[in-house]
Formats: sequence, C-alpha cells, structure tokens
Amino acid sequence: MYSLLFTLLAVAGLAHSQINLTSCSSTDLACIENRTRADQALIELPNFVTYPIQNDPFYATPANITDAKPGQILKVERRSNVSAYDIPPGQSLSRIMYASVDNFGDIVPATAAVLWPFTPKSFNGSSGYPLVAWAHGTSGIDRQCAVSNLRNLQYDFRSVFTLANLGYAVVMTDYVGLGSDNFFNYLAYKLHANDVVYSVVAAQSAFSQLSSEWVSFGHSEGGGVAWAVGERQATDPVPGFLGSIAAAPPPRQIDTTSPVGNSVFTAFLSFTISHLYGLDLSAIFRPVPLQALQLVQSIGGCNDAGYAAFATFNATDIYTNTSWPMSQAAIDFVNDYAVSGRPLGGPLLILQGSADTVVGTVGAAAGFNATCAVSGNTSVEYVSVVDMDHNPSMYASQRLWMQWIEDRFSHVPLRGGCRTSELSSAFAGDVQLAERFVVGYTKPWITIFSSTFLPSYLWASDLGFVQGGS
Ligand SMILES: *[C@@H]1O[C@H](CO)[C@@H](O)[C@H](O)[C@H]1NC(C)=O
Ligand SMILES: *[C@@H]1O[C@H](CO)[C@@H](O)[C@H](O)[C@H]1NC(C)=O
Ligand SMILES: *[C@@H]1O[C@H](CO)[C@@H](O)[C@H](O)[C@H]1NC(C)=O
Ligand SMILES: *[C@@H]1O[C@H](CO)[C@@H](O)[C@H](O)[C@H]1NC(C)=O
Ligand SMILES: *[C@@H]1O[C@H](CO)[C@@H](O)[C@H](O)[C@H]1NC(C)=O
Ligand SMILES: *[C@@H]1O[C@H](CO)[C@@H](O)[C@H](O)[C@H]1NC(C)=O
Ligand SMILES: *[C@@H]1O[C@H](CO)[C@@H](O)[C@H](O)[C@H]1NC(C)=O
Ligand SMILES: *[C@@H]1O[C@H](CO)[C@@H](O)[C@H](O)[C@H]1NC(C)=O
Ligand SMILES: *[C@@H]1O[C@H](CO)[C@@H](O)[C@H](O)[C@H]1NC(C)=O
Repeated sequence: MYSLLFTLLAVAGLAHSQINLTSCSSTDLACIENRTRADQALIELPNFVTYPIQNDPFYATPANITDAKPGQILKVERRSNVSAYDIPPGQSLSRIMYASVDNFGDIVPATAAVLWPFTPKSFNGSSGYPLVAWAHGTSGIDRQCAVSNLRNLQYDFRSVFTLANLGYAVVMTDYVGLGSDNFFNYLAYKLHANDVVYSVVAAQSAFSQLSSEWVSFGHSEGGGVAWAVGERQATDPVPGFLGSIAAAPPPRQIDTTSPVGNSVFTAFLSFTISHLYGLDLSAIFRPVPLQALQLVQSIGGCNDAGYAAFATFNATDIYTNTSWPMSQAAIDFVNDYAVSGRPLGGPLLILQGSADTVVGTVGAAAGFNATCAVSGNTSVEYVSVVDMDHNPSMYASQRLWMQWIEDRFSHVPLRGGCRTSELSSAFAGDVQLAERFVVGYTKPWITIFSSTFLPSYLWASDLGFVQGGS
C-alpha cells in the first residue's frame, strides 16, 4: 500500500521518502516516534476534517449534559459542511451529540454523524428516510479517531456511502470516547451497543423524517457491536428494531487461554482492560512500546500510527509478560463483554469472509453455535463469503446484505432458527481479492478527484480530470 501511495505522491510532485517499517529497534523511542509521526502525517492527517479534534467546538461537552437522559439530544448540527468531507455527490451530512450510558450507568456524551441520501428509498409508499444504524470497526482509541471527523467516514463505499446511494439514511455513532471527551472502552461491545441504540433514539428525535424502524449493521469491532445490539434488544428493547447484520465479528475479543500476539489492536485492548479491570500496564509492557502507544494517543494517532509504532515488533519485543491474556482481569473482561450465547431481540445475519486474515473465522463460527443454542425460533444465519478477506468480504456480499436490509424494511418473513450457507463466485480462483481501486486515506486514486491528495493546481492535468465548465 505504501508503494502505490508514494507513486501517486510522486505524480503530485511532493517529496516524501518511504517509511521504513523495519528501521527502529524496539528500545529506541526516538526512532519509533519519528516513524510514527511520519506515518501519521502521510496517511492519517489528510483524512481528518479537523486536527486536532479539540479545535472543533462541536466535540466539546455542553453544560446541559447534567440534566440529560439516555438518548436525549445535546447538540444538533443539521447541515454539516460537506466541502470538508469526501462523501459522494448528492449526499448530505448532519452531526449530533447525545447522551449515552457508560459502564457505571452514568450519563456520558457521544457523537454521531447522519449521512443522508439524495432521495430516500420508499417502502410501502412511505416518504421518510429508512434508517440504518452503522457500527464502525476499529479506527483507533483516542478522540481524534472519531469517524464523524474522517473525510471518508472511515468505511466509504465498503458500506455507508453505498447505503446512502441506495436511499438509506445512516446514523453512525463514533462511540463514547471517540469524538467525545471521555475514555474509550475499545471492544467493550455492550457499551458501544448503548451508543448505537441511543444514536437511533437521538437521531429520530432530532430528525422527524427518519423512519421509526431501523436495522443495525456493523463490521469487525462493529460486527461485535451489532451482535451486542441484538442481545440488548432481547432485554432492554428500543422500539423499531428490525434486526442486526454482524460482518466479520470477533465475538470474544481476546483468546484467554494462550499467550498474546503482536497485534497493536490487542495492545489497544489492554488499555480498556486496565481501565475497567485494573490490569497493570507497566507490569506487562516493556517501557518503550508502552510509551510508544501512549505517544500515539497523545498525538491523536489512529490505526495507522499504531501500526507504525509497533510495525514488525514481535510479542516479546512488546511485552515482559506475554501471558497477560490469561490474567484474571482479561478473563473478567471477556466474561463481561464478549457477545454470543445470549438470546436475541431480532434476527441476526453473520457475514464472514472465509479468508479473513484480521479476525479469523473460528470466532464467528463458535459465536454462531453459542447463540444458536439459545436463540430458539429467532432467525440466525451464518454466511461464509468464500475466499474473501476482512474488508473485501463487504464488497463481495454487498448484494446479499442490501437485500437483507430491504427485506427487513419490507417485512418479508424470515424462516426461524439457525442455518449456514456459502456465498461463492463461479469464477473462484480468478476473482479480484484485494481492495485495489479504493477510496480514502490509503487510497488516493479515487480521492484524488476530490482534492485530498492533489493540490488543486494539478487537478486538470492528471488522470484526465477536467473541472466542470472547462
Ligand atoms: C525520520 O523519518 C523520516 C521519514 O521516514 C526518515 O527519512 C528519517 O531518516 C528519520 N529520522 C530519524 C532520525 O530517524
Ligand atoms: C530499513 O531499515 C533496515 C534497518 O536499518 C535496513 O536494514 C533496511 O535495508 C531498510 N530497508 C529499506 C527498504 O530501506
Ligand atoms: C441541550 O441544549 C441543546 C441546545 O440548546 C438542546 O438542543 C438540547 O435539547 C438540550 N438537551 C438537554 C438534555 O437539555
Ligand atoms: C467548509 O469546509 C471547507 C473545506 O474545509 C472550508 O474551506 C470552508 O471554509 C468551510 N465552510 C464553512 C462555512 O465553514
Ligand atoms: C523477537 O524479535 C527479537 C528482535 O527484535 C529477537 O531477538 C527475538 O528472538 C524474537 N523473539 C521471538 C520469540 O521470535
Ligand atoms: C504473567 O501473567 C500471568 C497472568 O496474569 C501470571 O499468572 C504470571 O505470574 C505473570 N508472570 C510474571 C513473570 O509476572
Ligand atoms: C459449530 O457447530 C458445528 C455443528 O455442530 C460444528 O461442526 C463446528 O465445529 C462448530 N464450530 C465451532 C467453531 O465451534
Ligand atoms: C403496506 O401498506 C398496506 C396498506 O396500508 C398494509 O396493508 C401493509 O400491511 C403494509 N405493509 C407493510 C410491510 O407495512
Ligand atoms: C417459528 O417460525 C416460523 C416462521 O419462520 C413459524 O412458522 C413457526 O410457527 C415458529 N414456531 C414457533 C414455535 O414459534
């Protein structure tokens, strides 16, 4: 991905040297800091609407939160400045801040974006906007990584742009702590599920044109969240729920029976377990990798800055104790915050790429089994998207999830109970596997046309782009 990016930057005449991900030793903080900042500048900063996010007063917590109940609106920005975003032509954006609930049951602020289609898809003659509540995947663990502050809203045509092009309004929560000035409990699905359901309630109260019925849909971290929304609906339902789609979900956030790997996402998770269950970070991390992660947070670094911080370090480079997932704190976290094995308040569709290199396939299958054991006549469906990886499975299964959402709004009956199936191509072996065309921050050759990576004086001369009227 770096080489393609650099090719395009070279086209733009910008001088950048390639970031060398093997250049730093795991004990050299100055080198890691330099590499992390360079990566952030190249890959992340161009996609932020506001950096640092604190400069946008929208994300500041208002005084009237003290009187708020869950789902109540704290702020409404009805018409956001679409010039600051890379959303498709014809779409519009709003932002809201609203009250959600944290692990203590206390009121906390959350932010969300609402993406509007040019015109709504009509169901049964309705004139409202059918509502999909999107739960995003890992974007990072500090305020700066709010998806409402990303020019491509993180998922672009993988989900949210596509949904809006088809006539759905999409409310996408940032989750408490991304955007809002609170701790972000990364992978604590049931807390993020609070943020999703209250984003629905808040958006519906702010915008009367939204449908009262809604579908929950998420990918990766957000797949776990969409699953948690389904479980929450069984015990504490919010009206209008039509069902959940959990794409590429890791129901259990961490394996509590074996040593840890070198994934920066797992390291991010240790911060949550420290916050909620007192895991002692200084007792498990080597000093420099811990300082590197803290640096990522302090400079508003997100996923890519995190990758750059750890790059090729192995688990023993990062941790003094690689057995920390077997600690009581980690076990307690997974017991309290994993999904699956609980009844659901509506149908669940699990979409899982069979070649997922990020979350694997075992977790989703085991979670499906556990949920099926208790879900009775609720429809629970597991679809294996054959040969497709973590993100590519979203494109390959697009027709299926679009139809599923349409059918829920149309009240098409679903067969009760559990079933599995495979979605495979007749061209197996010759289908495109990589996300090559792509949009957004690692993917300039679409975004290029909307000026993210090319200065405007180069627009007319590259890739055949001609400005309107010329
Ligand atoms: C800092 O990073 C840049 C870009 O990767 C690299 O060219 C430079 O050599 C690095 N400097 C140090 C001191 O590591
Ligand atoms: C990256 O840095 C390492 C260590 O300094 C060096 O061995 C390697 O050749 C470098 N790779 C590139 C592509 O410059
Ligand atoms: C907080 O103030 C905003 C702006 O005046 C208002 O729209 C919102 O309804 C208020 N919320 C609560 C819970 O008081
Ligand atoms: C909207 O965003 C664009 C791009 O960031 C900026 O140039 C413009 O000043 C903004 N307009 C307003 C009214 O803030
Ligand atoms: C981890 O990498 C270091 C070098 O950074 C190496 O010395 C060590 O043997 C590796 N450990 C394992 C378990 O591979
Ligand atoms: C590493 O962590 C595990 C799990 O908490 C614990 O049982 C073990 O004693 C720790 N090892 C050391 C050397 O501290
Ligand atoms: C799920 O259940 C099926 C049928 O009992 C079984 O074949 C499969 O191994 C189970 N999968 C996992 C990951 O537990
Ligand atoms: C659509 O509207 C008709 C007529 O009002 C009604 O009978 C039917 O139940 C509606 N269908 C759905 C799915 O709401
Ligand atoms: C289970 O769901 C089917 C529809 O899929 C329905 O026909 C059947 O009556 C349901 N059975 C029970 C026991 O609720």
